[in-house]
Amino acid sequence: MSKELQTIPQHVAIIMDGNGRWAKKRLMPRVAGHKRGVETIKRITKYANSKGIKLITLYAFSTENWGRPQDEVNFLMKLPGDFFSSFLPELIENNCRVECIGDITKLPEDTQNILNKAIAESAHCTGLVLNFAINYGGQQEMIQAIQAISQKVKEGAIEIDQIDEALVEDYLFTARYGAIAKPDLVIRTSGEQRLSNFLLWQSAYSELYFTDVLWPDFSEKDFEEALVAFSNRNRRFGKV
Ligand code: FPP
Repeated sequence: MSKELQTIPQHVAIIMDGNGRWAKKRLMPRVAGHKRGVETIKRITKYANSKGIKLITLYAFSTENWGRPQDEVNFLMKLPGDFFSSFLPELIENNCRVECIGDITKLPEDTQNILNKAIAESAHCTGLVLNFAINYGGQQEMIQAIQAISQKVKEGAIEIDQIDEALVEDYLFTARYGAIAKPDLVIRTSGEQRLSNFLLWQSAYSELYFTDVLWPDFSEKDFEEALVAFSNRNRRFGKV
């Protein structure tokens, strides 16, 4: 399982899809798929860390996911508690830092507290960053950036012709990631081939990788296949 990879992506973003279908295939409730999906996150994080990947951004809850049945939303909101109570010590031991993008102030208070505690307790770690996109939407991210920039223009702090790519990027949730804010590789599991409002600005030149494997089944070997595919791509960024 250890083929030589010529290029390791620094930032991998993952749309973890297929939990519901995984459960349905086993005649289990949808939430059983989410529970199993959390175990995949643990495996994949350890693997990414061992490969020297610097940043993993996981699409955990989109701004559109509020439209799911209330019971399912409630279950999803409890997952960070399950995940961090069993896995945060190991993350810290392995020098992994937890972060979030999206508007977490709209989450139930206990979920916010759990996330903020994980972020604070791992803040000193300098290895892999495990970044959860929660209550995240790419369009909403751009809207809040446009609003903040417009406010600065109104106050006279920014001239309109100073607005360029770099300035916009300073106002995105991913600003703190600087040179690695844009994912090199975006993986989506379960056979769907779309971005679903995930990192729309940042993925402009990302390599996209789709696999039919459902997220609860996504293994280290499947991840390695994605890395091999990435390593064989020829990234030109619009040039020849
Ligand atoms: C997509 O499967 C998955 C989700 C909407 C949620 C995944 C989220 C987690 C595993 C939560 C992790 C969060 C933390 C902080 C640990 P789906 O339900 O859309 O599957 P389907 O398309 O087969 O129905």
